[in-house]
This record gives sequence, structure tokens and C-alpha cells, in this order.
Amino acid sequence: MTAIILLGPPGAGKGTVAEALVEKGITHVSTGNLLRDRVRLGTPLGLEAKKLMDQGRFVPDEVVVGMIRNLLQDSGKDTSFLFDGFPRTLVQAEKLDELILSLEGTLEAAILLECPDQAIIERLSGRRTCTKCGAVYHVKNNPALAGDLCDVDGCELEQRPDDHAETIKKRLQIYTEQTAPLIEYYKIRNLLHSIDATKSIGEVRSAALEKLGWVV
Ligand code: AP5
Repeated sequence: MTAIILLGPPGAGKGTVAEALVEKGITHVSTGNLLRDRVRLGTPLGLEAKKLMDQGRFVPDEVVVGMIRNLLQDSGKDTSFLFDGFPRTLVQAEKLDELILSLEGTLEAAILLECPDQAIIERLSGRRTCTKCGAVYHVKNNPALAGDLCDVDGCELEQRPDDHAETIKKRLQIYTEQTAPLIEYYKIRNLLHSIDATKSIGEVRSAALEKLGWVV
């Protein structure tokens, strides 16, 4: 297996870039989406996770690492993974290294989307997501063709419960404290590629493809 990591603050555009990379055949793994699936299903894990997510706090490392371990162990040896929102702490990064090693895989790159807080607040407060497939839109920057309905499956769009001003601030604070140290973690291993994520969606997607050496 091979793996690529998408790093960056909440709302920098990780999910939006992932949509373009998936078209190249990579398997997108968003821990946020996996957790929201469990919230929708009302599993015990989902109910516990929802309380933390709605406050903008992290779900415990062992829960998230457990989900990723199961997913990797159930996948074929030739799968290429794109991790979005994982790892988010140094513990998670070390556990991911161990998992990749145990599967004789390779971590190929960590793509960092750099975006200032002001742009993030604007993006997250205007974000809308499909209630069924999770496709991501923005009321101004990337609107759905039919207004409140998803272009992919026609289902309703909603505002995420953690996309409100106070929760966004909390998420940014936790990102700085717990996730930003991963930048150095991957930089010293020569795996880090930074992208200016304030550019248009098309430019950011093209930059990610270029950094990976994939055809644009
Ligand atoms: P998660 O779902 O991963 O949220 P996040 O990391 O906070 O990231 P977002 O999904 O909010 O943003 P994004 O960077 O994907 O941006 P997007 O493409 O949507 O996690 C949610 C929660 O789950 C966490 O807070 C935590 O509680 C828990 N969790 C998840 N993983 C965990 C882990 N590993 N450990 C512990 N807990 C975990 O774009 C945002 C908006 O901007 C959209 O509207 C989009 O259309 C627009 N946009 C995107 N790019 C551009 C651009 N270039 N120009 C203009 N607009 C743009």
C-alpha cells in the first residue's frame, strides 16, 4: 500500500482537493466523514464522537487509530490511500507509521494546505455539505447548480453543526496546538509539500497534482 496525507487547518480545502485526487484513482479516507457516518448510524462510538465534534474537540486517538487500523487491514495490498484529517496528533502520526510499516507500505507525501484564519472563517461559515454523499459546496465560491440540492445525487445540503463561529475558533486553536507540530514531523523527513490554499479551487487542485507529479 501507499499513502498520501492531506494536512492543513479546518476549512483549508482538504476535502475539496481530495475530490480532484480521487479522480486519479486514489482511495479517499476522511476520518471526519467516517465519524459522521457513525453519528448518522447512531452507533455508541458515533454518539460519543458527536459530543466532541460538535464542540470542535478531537475524538480520542485510540478511537480514530482503531478505525484506520481496521480499514487498512481490510484493504488490498495494492491500495493507494489519501488520508484527509488523519493524522491530527503526534500520537496518530506515529501509529500511522507503525501501521504502514507492518503492511510493508510507503508514505509518499504530506501535502500541507496553508490558509490564514480569516479565509477559513469565511469558507467554513459558507460551507454546505450533502446530507447523503458528503459532497462539499460553498454558497459563494462553489455553489451547487440547484441551490440547496447536491449536484451528484440531488439530496439536500446542510450546514455542519461544527461550522459555527465559536466552534470554528475552537477548532483553529486545537489545530495550532495539536496538529501544526506535524508540519515539522514530515518536513524533517522530506515528505512535506506546501501549497498556497488561498488561491482558487482550480489552482489549488492543480498545485496538489503537480506536487505529486501527477498529470494535470
Ligand atoms: P473533519 O471533517 O476532518 O474537519 P476539518 O479538518 O476541520 O476539516 P474540514 O472538513 O472542516 O475542512 P476541509 O479542509 O476539508 O475544507 P473543505 O474542502 O470542506 O473533522 C471534523 C471533526 O471530526 C474534528 O473537528 C474532530 O472532532 C473529528 N476528527 C476528525 N478526524 C479526527 C482525527 N484524526 N482525530 C481526532 N478527531 C478527529 O472546504 C471548506 C469550504 O471552503 C467549502 O465550502 C469549500 O467549497 C470552500 N473551499 C475549499 N477550497 C477553496 C478555495 N481554494 N477557494 C475558495 N473556497 C474554497
